[in-house]
Amino acid sequence: MSHFSKQDELVSNESANPTFSQLIEARLSRRQLLGGSAAATLTGLFGGMSSLAEAASKTAKPPMPMKLTALGFTSVPFSTEDRVIVPQGYVAEVIYAWGDPVGIAGNMPAFKSDASNTAEEQAVQAGMHHDGMRFFPLPFGKEDSTRGLLCVNHEYTDPGLLTTDGNGKMTEAKYRKAIAAVGMSIIEIERQKNGSWSVVRPSRYARRITADTPIALSGPAAGHDLVKTAADPTGREVLGTLQNCANGWTPWGTYLTCEENFDLVFCDNSQASDHDFNVKRYGVAAEEKLNKWAEIDLRWDRQIHRNEINRFGWVVEVDPYDPESKPVKRTALGRFKHEGATPAVAKDGRLVIYMGDDQRFEYIYKFVSAGKFNPKDRKANRDLLDSGTLFVARFNEDGTGEWRELTQGKNGLTADKGFASQGELLVKTRLAADVVGATKMDRCEWIAVNPHNQGELYATLTNNSQRGADGKAGPDAANPRKNNLFGQILHWLEADADPAATTFKWDLFAKAGRPDTDKEEHRNAGYKGDAFGSPDGLYHDHNGVLWIQTDISTSTLNTKEYAGMGHNMMLATIPATGEIRRFLTGPAGCEITGISFTPDHKTMFINIQHPGEPANELSDPAKPKAISSWPDGAAGGRPRSGTVAIRRLDGGIIGS
Ligand code: FEO
Ligand code: CA
Ligand code: CA
Repeated sequence: MSHFSKQDELVSNESANPTFSQLIEARLSRRQLLGGSAAATLTGLFGGMSSLAEAASKTAKPPMPMKLTALGFTSVPFSTEDRVIVPQGYVAEVIYAWGDPVGIAGNMPAFKSDASNTAEEQAVQAGMHHDGMRFFPLPFGKEDSTRGLLCVNHEYTDPGLLTTDGNGKMTEAKYRKAIAAVGMSIIEIERQKNGSWSVVRPSRYARRITADTPIALSGPAAGHDLVKTAADPTGREVLGTLQNCANGWTPWGTYLTCEENFDLVFCDNSQASDHDFNVKRYGVAAEEKLNKWAEIDLRWDRQIHRNEINRFGWVVEVDPYDPESKPVKRTALGRFKHEGATPAVAKDGRLVIYMGDDQRFEYIYKFVSAGKFNPKDRKANRDLLDSGTLFVARFNEDGTGEWRELTQGKNGLTADKGFASQGELLVKTRLAADVVGATKMDRCEWIAVNPHNQGELYATLTNNSQRGADGKAGPDAANPRKNNLFGQILHWLEADADPAATTFKWDLFAKAGRPDTDKEEHRNAGYKGDAFGSPDGLYHDHNGVLWIQTDISTSTLNTKEYAGMGHNMMLATIPATGEIRRFLTGPAGCEITGISFTPDHKTMFINIQHPGEPANELSDPAKPKAISSWPDGAAGGRPRSGTVAIRRLDGGIIGS
C-alpha cells in the first residue's frame, strides 16, 4: 500500500538490534560471494526440483517451463497517461473492478457510479483496493488455463470514494459499508474464444469474505487469554479479516490472505501507563481519524475491548474450492504487519512460508511446518500450518545469514521476558524477534521463491527514508543506503538449497533508483536497464522471469526525487541476465500489485489499486475524478480499483 504510507513508515522498533553501520557499498560485490549467482541461477532454475504445481497434482502435468534466456518484449517508457500501457502485441483488459457483483445467484446488484450502493449491496460486490491475488484452476487438480477461481484481496477503503458524502460524519450505514468493502473476493472466471476473460455469474464459488465474516483462530495462540473477548470468551472465533495486503497459497490449493496494517482501524486512548505492546510495538494510535470505525462499533476501541486487536495481524487460510468452508487464522505463522506469505517445499516435504513485516525497521520471517505436505491426500494437509517453527532472519555483514528460532523457552524467550507460552510469544511476535537479534529491514514487501529451486529467494525492500536518520538505525549490509528512497531487491540461497535450512548466503540483486541523479544514494546499481523505485509486488514465474511491481506513494509520484518517472509500473527480469525491463505503466494515482498467471502462462492477472488517489491519500467526494477516471473513463463517476487480465494478441507466453 502507498495508503497510510506515513503509518507504514512510522517506526515502532526502538530495540537495539544491529545495524552494521560501517559496511555499505561493498555489498554489491557480494554477488561474487555466492559463487557467481548468474551461473548458479541458470542451472538452478531448471534443475529438476519439482514445483509446487507438480507436487500438488498427480493427475495433470504442468506445462513445461520455457527456460527463457531473454525477454521478448520491448520496454515501455515512463508514462503519465491515465491508462494501463503494455508492450506492443499485448492487451490489458479490466475484468473485476470495485463494485462489480461477485456473482451470487439472485443477488447481483450493479455498481452505482455515485457510490450510493448500500452496505448490503457492497457485501456481494467487489471490495475496494484490490491487492494480492491468486488464480486457482478449475476443477481442483487440473492445470486448466481457461477456467478458474480468482482470489482477490481488498486491502482497505478510501472513505472519500466509498460513499456519497465521503469522509464526513460517520454513520451506522457508512460503517457497515466500509466493513463490507474490505477482506477478499472469490470469483469464478473463464476465458472466451477471443482470449478475453470474464467473470462467471452466477457461480457456486462466488463469495465475499469481509471484516464481519466468522473466521476460526487456530494454532498455538488460539484460546489464549490474550485473544479472548467478551463476544468470544473461547478465543477461537473472530469476526472478519482486514487490511488484506499481499498473499500466498499452498500446494494443496488453498489461498493465504495476509493482514497488514491492522493497527489502523483501532484506537487506544487509555492512559500512557496502561499502554501495552500494541501501542508501543505495533503502533496503535490514540485516535483513529480516517476510518473512524470505533465511533460506531466499540470493538475497535481498545479502552473498551482490550484484546480484539490481538485477533488481527495474522495469515488467514481460505479454501476457494469449498464455498462452505470457514477461513482460518493460522497463528503459528506469527502476528505482525504481514505483507505476503510465499510457500516453498523443503527437501523432506515440510512446507515453508516466507513472510515480510512491512514497516520501517521490521523483520523477515519464515515458518517451517512440523508435518510434511501430503500430495496424495488434500485433506491430510488441512491443519499443516498449525504446528511448526517460526524463525526470523539475521543478515550478517559478510554475506551469510541465519534463521533464528522464535520458540518459547529458547534463545532467551522466557516467561520473565514476557513470553510465558508459545501462544503469548506469537501474539507478541515482533517483541520476540527483537530479543533474538533479527536484522531491521527497509520495509520488506513481497518475497518470491524460484519455483524450480525453492531454496532461492528474492525480496523487495521498498524504501526507508528514516534509515540513518537521527536516533534511527544506520545503513547495514542488506539495507545499505541512508535516506533510502528507492529501495532494493535482496536475493538469498538457503544452505543446500533447502527452504528448511537455518543458514543462508545472501547478496543484493539490485538497488533501485535512477541513473540521472548526482546523489549516489538514489542511483540505480547492480543491474542494467530501466529505472524504477519502491519495488513492492514480486513474483518468480514458471519460465524464469521475475516480475517486479512498484508502489511509489502518491505524495512522491513523479515529483521530488521521482520527478519525470511517471506513474507506478511493473518490470521484468530474467535474473541471470542482470537486466530489468519495464513491462507496464498504470493509470494516475495507482499502485500496481497482485500478480498471478494461468498455468500455461498465456494470461497474467494484475491489480490496479487506488487509481486517482491524491497526495494526501484521501479522495475529495466533491471531485472524485480530479486525478483519474480509470477504468470507466468519461462515463464513470469515480475511479475504481480493478483486476486486469493481460495476454498476447498472438496467444503466446507472457514475457517471451
Ligand atoms: Fe499493503 Fe506493504 O503494502
Ligand atoms: Ca504492498
Ligand atoms: Ca508498498
